[in-house]
Amino acid sequence: METSSLYTFLPLAFLLLTLKLFSSWLKRPKNLPPSPPSIPILGHLHLIKRPFHQTLHSLSQSYGSSAEECCTKNDTVLANRPSSVAANQIGYGSTVVTMAPYGDHWRNLRRICTLEIFSSACLNSFLPIRMDEIKRLLLKLNKRTSSFCDDFTKVELKSMFLEMTFNIIVRMLTGKRDYEKKVSRLGKRSDEFLQNLIEERRGSHKIGGGGESRDTVLDHLLSLQETQPEFYTDEIIKGLILVMLIAGTDTSGLAIEWGMSYLLNHPLSLKIATEKLDSVIGQERLIDETDIAKLSYLSNITSTSTHVITGLHDRRRACPGANMAQRVVTVTLGSLIQCFEWKRISEELVDMTEGEGMNMPKVVSLEAMCKPRKIMARIAEH
Ligand code: HEM
Repeated sequence: METSSLYTFLPLAFLLLTLKLFSSWLKRPKNLPPSPPSIPILGHLHLIKRPFHQTLHSLSQSYGSSAEECCTKNDTVLANRPSSVAANQIGYGSTVVTMAPYGDHWRNLRRICTLEIFSSACLNSFLPIRMDEIKRLLLKLNKRTSSFCDDFTKVELKSMFLEMTFNIIVRMLTGKRDYEKKVSRLGKRSDEFLQNLIEERRGSHKIGGGGESRDTVLDHLLSLQETQPEFYTDEIIKGLILVMLIAGTDTSGLAIEWGMSYLLNHPLSLKIATEKLDSVIGQERLIDETDIAKLSYLSNITSTSTHVITGLHDRRRACPGANMAQRVVTVTLGSLIQCFEWKRISEELVDMTEGEGMNMPKVVSLEAMCKPRKIMARIAEH
């Protein structure tokens, strides 16, 4: 199109669009219930205040029955996911589980998640990885504090929690840790990175593994690819890895940060949780996942901090990683309390302001004062 005709066309198109919107606004049904003023196209969206999840939560409190209807009568509508540029560009053409529209393909991916990744047998087989990463976190904290002997030391916690949850997921997927630097530089090259991970694991299968463990999620998916190549394509496998890295790291790390922040602001709860841990487990051995059932006080705190992040979500697309997250968050909080004494960095309460973002980060990253307890010396020895 020539430039001059473009200049004529654009204002004309704009005028026609305005007229169309105005006429549909005039023709809108007149017997609607009273409501605040709305804007064409946007409707009442501009009235939703930030953070969105809190507005949605207060709406669900005021209009509970309608909200419930959304999650029952209309739940298939809610379970759908609209197509978007982001979902197409980074979500392998909307084929990854978090972005896939509600339907057979999504159902297949959920089945893989439930049976092949998050089944009790799979989760139990990765227990040593989770415990090792928790222990590394404790040792790192201990190193930062022990040089100051008997006193409290100020530590920044958020980055340590995120590093730990990231390494748990990466080790479950690939058997290796310390991919963090590579992943933080990912950006557009995420596909290249994920494809390399696949090739690396494929290579290690061919040359006999070099003594490496072959029990990772990626190995498992690659062996399923051998028997069902039409479904377990490289693209599907890359999508599953991507989703686990994105959906499984920040969520759990931030839940631990919220849980710890709550305990620091409620010293009585911290005292009760510590006493319960001491009476059930003592100071001779470290808490593990089999203790969770005996620690209802701690589990309640964990459930609260993970539910805080969930806000509103529908049952069909509920989190398949919730069981694993609950284990990681509970045992990490439990070990932090069992191995260290904690207090706030000043008299002021820990700032609990919620930031923007899907995973509900805290605006101010958590810092706290910590001091090793007796058991830490025993853990550091082994
Ligand atoms: C405290 C930690 C966690 C919280 C609070 C959490 C929360 C959520 C929520 C609210 C959803 C629903 C999102 C939606 O409706 O679109 C979800 C979905 C999902 N989560 Fe989690 N999550 C956590 C940990 C994990 C972990 C550890 C993994 C995996 C390693 C994981 C994997 C997923 C996946 C794959 C979905 C998509 C489900 C679907 O669309 O069918 N999450 N999570």
